[in-house]
Amino acid sequence: MIPWLLAALSLCTPGTGLPPRHMDSIIRMVEALESPHANVTVTIADLALALGGCSTPGCRAVLGEPPHIPTAPPALNPDQWQLLTRLLHRDGAVLAPDGSTVALGPLLAGIAVGLRRAGEGPILNASVDPLFAVTIAEALGTSFLTARGGDGATLGPGGCWDDVDDPQNYTLLGPPSLVPDAVANGAMDGVLLGNRLAGDPIRLAKLLRDYYGTGNGTKEGRPPSSYRRRDFGVLAGPGKLEEEVLAMLRVLRVLPPTRELLEDVGAEEEVAIARRAARDFTERYVECPAIVPRCMWGARPYRGTPKPLSLPLGSVYIHHTFSPGAPCRSFAACARAMRAMQRFHQDTRGWDDIGYSFVVGSDGYVYQGRGWHWVGAHTKGYNSRGYGVGYIGDFSAAPPDADTIALVRDELLPCAVRAGRLRHNYTVRGHRQMGHTDCPGESLFREIETWRGFV
Ligand SMILES: *[C@@H]1O[C@H](CO)[C@@H](O)[C@H](O)[C@H]1NC(C)=O
Ligand SMILES: *[C@@H]1O[C@H](CO)[C@@H](O)[C@H](O)[C@H]1NC(C)=O
Ligand SMILES: *[C@@H]1O[C@H](CO)[C@@H](O)[C@H](O)[C@H]1NC(C)=O
Ligand SMILES: *[C@@H]1O[C@H](CO)[C@@H](O)[C@H](O)[C@H]1NC(C)=O
Ligand SMILES: *[C@@H]1O[C@H](CO)[C@@H](O)[C@H](O)[C@H]1NC(C)=O
Repeated sequence: MIPWLLAALSLCTPGTGLPPRHMDSIIRMVEALESPHANVTVTIADLALALGGCSTPGCRAVLGEPPHIPTAPPALNPDQWQLLTRLLHRDGAVLAPDGSTVALGPLLAGIAVGLRRAGEGPILNASVDPLFAVTIAEALGTSFLTARGGDGATLGPGGCWDDVDDPQNYTLLGPPSLVPDAVANGAMDGVLLGNRLAGDPIRLAKLLRDYYGTGNGTKEGRPPSSYRRRDFGVLAGPGKLEEEVLAMLRVLRVLPPTRELLEDVGAEEEVAIARRAARDFTERYVECPAIVPRCMWGARPYRGTPKPLSLPLGSVYIHHTFSPGAPCRSFAACARAMRAMQRFHQDTRGWDDIGYSFVVGSDGYVYQGRGWHWVGAHTKGYNSRGYGVGYIGDFSAAPPDADTIALVRDELLPCAVRAGRLRHNYTVRGHRQMGHTDCPGESLFREIETWRGFV
C-alpha cells in the first residue's frame, strides 16, 4: 500500500505518561494557545498542518504546503507537544465526552478551512469545496477507489479505549479501512465546525467546548456532538457528498502522486465510485444511529454460549428499563446504567447477559446489549422472534424526548431493515402486549402505538 495511506490508518499505539487522549487535553492546548499571555499567533489548526495533519496529496492541493513550525510554541508544555505530534502523525484519535472517538486530522483540517474562509489564508483549488475536500471527500474517494473489485473494507470499524477515564490505547474492533469510524466522526465534525467558523469566527476553545462538552459529559444533557450525524446530513445532502467525492477524484487524477491510482479508471467508473462511496457513507453514518459497542460501556463477557438468531427477524418489542428510572443524558451515566443492568440480569436474575438486544440512552446513542446476532432475554416466549429494545428510564408518566424516540423509530429500525436484520414488514409491540407487565410504561406505549409496524 502507498505510505501516505498507511499514515491515516494506524490508530493504535502504546500510550506513555502523556496527557489522556481525551478531547479535554486538546481543548486545554487550544486554551493555552489562545491565552492573551501566550504571545503566539499560531492556531491549533496551523500546528496540526505543520505536524502532518494534511499530508495527503488532495489535502495539500487544497491547503498548500504545510507551515514550518519546528518546535513547540512556548504556550504548550513538552508533554502537550508530544501528544499533539503523536496524534497527528500516527495514532490519530481522541475520546470525546459523548463517548465517540474522533480523529484529529480531519477535524483540524476542517477547522483550518473554516479559519481561512473567515479571512486568514489562501485556499488553492477552487474546483472542490475545500471543507469537504480536506475532511471527507479525499478519504472516501481513495477508500472506494483502492477497494474496488476487491473485498477489502471501505468503511469502519469502530474501536474501544483501554480506560474511558484515562484513555491511552485505542484498539480497532476489526480490519481497518481508510475511513474507520473515528475518521468518519472527525470528518463530520470538521465539516460542521469549519462551516460554523467560516460564518462566525469565534475562539476555538469556546467552539470546541460548546460542541463537545467536557470531562464525562455535561450535566445539562446531550452535547451538540451527539447530533453530528443529523447535522452533517443536512450539510452533505442531497447529492452534495457525491459531487464532492467526484470532484476530488478528478483532482487526484491530475496530481502526480495519485495519477496512477486512476490510470485505468474511466469517467463512468469514476462516477460510479463516487456514487457508491457517498451512498454507503450516508447509509452507515447519517441514516443509521451510532451504536456504542459493549467494550465502550464496560460490559462483562457473556456467560456461556450465546444462541444465534435466525435473520431477518419479524418483530421488535419495546421496553423501558423502569429501573434506572431517570433517563441518562451523558455517556458516563448511560454506560453506568448499562453496567448496573447487566450486573442485575446476570447476578440476580441468573441470565447469561444483559437481557435487551439494544438499549436506548437519552444521550443520543444506542447501546449494544446482545446485539443483532444473539438471542436475548427480554420478552418471554418471543426472544427468538424479535429484537428487544429497552429505553433507559421509567416512561409511565412522560415519554422519552422527541429525539430519543426518533432514534429508534426513524433510524435504528429502518437501518435494520436495510441491513437485512429485520423484515420490511416487521411488527412493533410493547412488552405489555406479550406478558403481564406495564412495560414500556403507559406514556411510551401510547407513543409506540403511532409507529409504523405497531400492531
Ligand atoms: C497500550 O498497549 C500497549 C500494547 O498493547 C501496552 O504495552 C501498553 O502498556 C498500553 N498502555 C497503557 C497505558 O495501557
Ligand atoms: C510577550 O511579548 C511581550 C512583547 O514582545 C513581552 O514583553 C512579554 O514578556 C512576553 N510574555 C511572555 C510570557 O513571554
Ligand atoms: C470521569 O469520571 C471519573 C469518575 O468520576 C473520573 O475519575 C475521570 O477522571 C473522569 N474522566 C474525565 C475525562 O473527566
Ligand atoms: C484544481 O483541480 C483541477 C482538477 O479538478 C485541476 O485541473 C486544476 O489544475 C487544479 N487547480 C490548481 C490551481 O491546482
Ligand atoms: C412479511 O413478509 C414475508 C415475506 O417477505 C412473509 O412471509 C410474512 O408472512 C410477512 N409477515 C407479515 C406479518 O405480514
